[in-house]
Amino acid sequence: MNELDSLVSSAREAFAQATTPAELENAKAQFLGKSGRLTELMKGMAQLSPEDKKTRGAAINVAKQAVEALLTARRQALADAELERQLKAEALDVTLPGRQQGRGGLHPVSLTLERIEGIFGSMGFDVADGPEIETDWFNFTALNTPEDHPARSMHDTFYVEGGTLEAPNLLRTHTSPMQVRYAVQHVKKYRHLIDAGQAMPEIRVIAPGRTYRVDSDATHSPMFHQCEGLWIGENVSFKDLKVVFTDFCKTFFESEDLVLRFRPSFFPFTEPSAEIDIQFQSGPLAGRWLEVSGAGQVHPNVVRNMGLDPERFIGFAFGMGPDRLTMLRYGVNDLRLFFDGDIRFLSQFR
Ligand code: PHE
Repeated sequence: MNELDSLVSSAREAFAQATTPAELENAKAQFLGKSGRLTELMKGMAQLSPEDKKTRGAAINVAKQAVEALLTARRQALADAELERQLKAEALDVTLPGRQQGRGGLHPVSLTLERIEGIFGSMGFDVADGPEIETDWFNFTALNTPEDHPARSMHDTFYVEGGTLEAPNLLRTHTSPMQVRYAVQHVKKYRHLIDAGQAMPEIRVIAPGRTYRVDSDATHSPMFHQCEGLWIGENVSFKDLKVVFTDFCKTFFESEDLVLRFRPSFFPFTEPSAEIDIQFQSGPLAGRWLEVSGAGQVHPNVVRNMGLDPERFIGFAFGMGPDRLTMLRYGVNDLRLFFDGDIRFLSQFR
């Protein structure tokens, strides 16, 4: 290999070893710079004869062009590699699905409460709201619940600070205190009619809301929902309650194919008392009696605590479990799913 060929190949090697533009410019200087190897060769031509200058000059020029071509190629290669690197670093994966705004929805129990309110509302029932922190009076005493009733024990009731020993505050264990709270207001409003022996507009109200008991398993949650119903007038009977409740169940479950039964039971604030069971005649739940509500004729002592004469006014109350109604309606088998806050469960009710 002659001197010029080996110069070209050492330029190729030097350029290949340069991995950044700066390194490449250094390598270039070794060959094409002011004191680079090619430049030195050109300078060395000064002593040659004109004849030799011509051939030598042409040969050096060929080598110089080859080196320049190598340089250009290497510059391009480095620029391409840099571009490639940048593109990779800034890559957008256009195959990723777009980010959507999450769509919220009502909780299944809220859907049930809305449904209950809508149905009873259409039957002329008012919807009332009451405090979740109750007094012992409204939660128990006014509801004819004796001092020694087991429901008052620390095991069932969450007591909260701020009350007194005689009048403790507690988390209401049911929505029944709303019977007395609502009735007292209603009676206050119509006292003049009642005292004048005139007709009082009937009390017809439901009171849905949260209730609390020291209880927790697949079918009990320390926080759960109830919906109280109260209907008081001078001419109301168990038959009316049954008609209204049957209507409610058929509308709620969108089925004509169900029957109701009143099964004797006990509550301190109703006498007689009953559990309301329903039975579907068709569909996945057919044939089983399902308990949906407690109910009964409001106890005379409670009617008295409402400010009404039990000889003149008669009332019916019921207290149902919206959580259980939701489970039945949607086929949910574990109550705790409602309160875990798992979006995979909740989003199915949107
Ligand atoms: N409060 C009762 C309970 O929690 C239910 C009920 C309400 C029963 C009204 C009769 C009348 O079990």
